[in-house]
Amino acid sequence: MQSHAWWQRGVIYQVYPRSFQDSNGDGIGDLEGVRRRLDYLVRLGVDAVWLSPIFPSPMADFGYDIADYCGVDPIFGTLEDFDRLIGQAHARGLKLILDFVPNHTSEAHPWFAESRSSRANPKRDWYIWRDPAPGGGPPNNWISNFGGSAWTFDEASGQYYHHAFLEQQPDLNWRNPELRAAMADVMRFWLDRGVDGFRVDVIWHLIKDAQFRDNPPNPAFGPGQPEISRLLQVHSADQDEVLDVIREMRAVVDGYEDRVLIGEIYLPVERLVAYYGPGLSGVHLPFNFQLILAPWSARAIGRLIDEYERALPPGGWPNWVLGNHDQKRIATRVGAAQARVAAMLLLTLRGTLTIYYGDEIGLADVPVPRELAQDPWERNEPGHGRDPARTPMPWDDSPTGGFTSGRPWLPLNDTTALNVAAQEADPRSMLALHRALLALRRAHPALAIGGYQGEGTTGDVLAFRRRSEDEELLVALNFGSSPVEIALPGARAEALLSTHLDRSGPEPAGPLRLRGDEGVVLRLGGEPQAARA
Ligand code: GLC
Ligand code: CA
Repeated sequence: MQSHAWWQRGVIYQVYPRSFQDSNGDGIGDLEGVRRRLDYLVRLGVDAVWLSPIFPSPMADFGYDIADYCGVDPIFGTLEDFDRLIGQAHARGLKLILDFVPNHTSEAHPWFAESRSSRANPKRDWYIWRDPAPGGGPPNNWISNFGGSAWTFDEASGQYYHHAFLEQQPDLNWRNPELRAAMADVMRFWLDRGVDGFRVDVIWHLIKDAQFRDNPPNPAFGPGQPEISRLLQVHSADQDEVLDVIREMRAVVDGYEDRVLIGEIYLPVERLVAYYGPGLSGVHLPFNFQLILAPWSARAIGRLIDEYERALPPGGWPNWVLGNHDQKRIATRVGAAQARVAAMLLLTLRGTLTIYYGDEIGLADVPVPRELAQDPWERNEPGHGRDPARTPMPWDDSPTGGFTSGRPWLPLNDTTALNVAAQEADPRSMLALHRALLALRRAHPALAIGGYQGEGTTGDVLAFRRRSEDEELLVALNFGSSPVEIALPGARAEALLSTHLDRSGPEPAGPLRLRGDEGVVLRLGGEPQAARA
């Protein structure tokens, strides 16, 4: 049982704290709200909760602009609330992972105030300050991820500071050893409080080109893409030296028992896997976003799974993600029917899986009228904002969904059409499917820790096997809406679960029949199912 770490067997659930549960009527979710919903997460069957940032922040980027790494923003509660939350999570067997945002602080962080105060300040070098270009203007052509130049001029000291995101989010200088030491202390502060690990924000950004060379143009840039895509981020991110920084972070985490380090990384697979580090000295899990970025077809998905499996370094543990607070929701990307297939895919793949809150009930993006827009990216570049994927969790069918007694910070979906309570009562709901998939994963080592073998695609059907010492499962997923038949690899098979939640027991002889938008998990070999805990 202990051959694998908890985070290898486990499934992670991402909570966007502003939108999970409000406990005091201010319309914004908080830590006490999360605490009250812990039993929901236990019933769902996940193993760990990752909280997006909860630290003191002016909220220019909703908590990804941190003014104090070692506190809790009053909007979310207090350190005591945090201690209560983690205590009660642990008492239920749930792990708690925090968001660590080391690439930048808020402009309101005292470190930045010092750094900005003069060129001679000891913390000047904790941030990235450069002289104007020879003819004036920004030091180079780098672009902010939210549009516009990645440099802002500071009149008083006559230099520009770098910000990969908002100008309110100045980038820290990870080449400075004092800054590195201060950030290690931040990690220890939370590890000492019992957190089970970190999801590290934009970890591939931490080190920039030492010479600050211009980024080259992106030949694939086209209309409709955000401005950041105009250039290839060759010099502003993904520098080899970042692996040294990550090795140090990993050493801090390894100073504690059983903690996990996850890195947020948007890079092609061959670069992504470099973040396992030499000799696996990097992050335990470089977040794998391939399912978010790929076209939704059996062939494309099958190919990317095989490519990813092949690219993993020896001992590197895989992971898969279907959605997060920066991306369109899966139900919007593929539609309600295929979202069930996507759930089965995610929860039967090999490796650690991350579920984004709300996806377990099939929540789709909620259109947010312009005057209610919150995301700063939406204001800079309309149409690219992330508010629609961050709307409050609809717990019941009341207008504010049981999320708040006040005015929600973002509008909710039509809660009469989709909410947790209704799905709790419906044995065929998306929520029921997630519970069944998570229970199946827990019960079958073949799914939790077994091997993966692609079976290729037949038309719209993707199939693969998962195998443990004592059993072999076949997962077959119909990415199309028409019924299909495929040949079964074995002679006899027993259905364990269908996305339609109406199929179990011995399968008839002959080809496997799948309905449109149906996925199934079968046990191959056909022995009667042994009772399992
Ligand atoms: C990460 C976060 C995103 C944030 C950005 C800047 O990509 O996931 O929400 O805006 O970093 O911190
Ligand atoms: Ca609140």
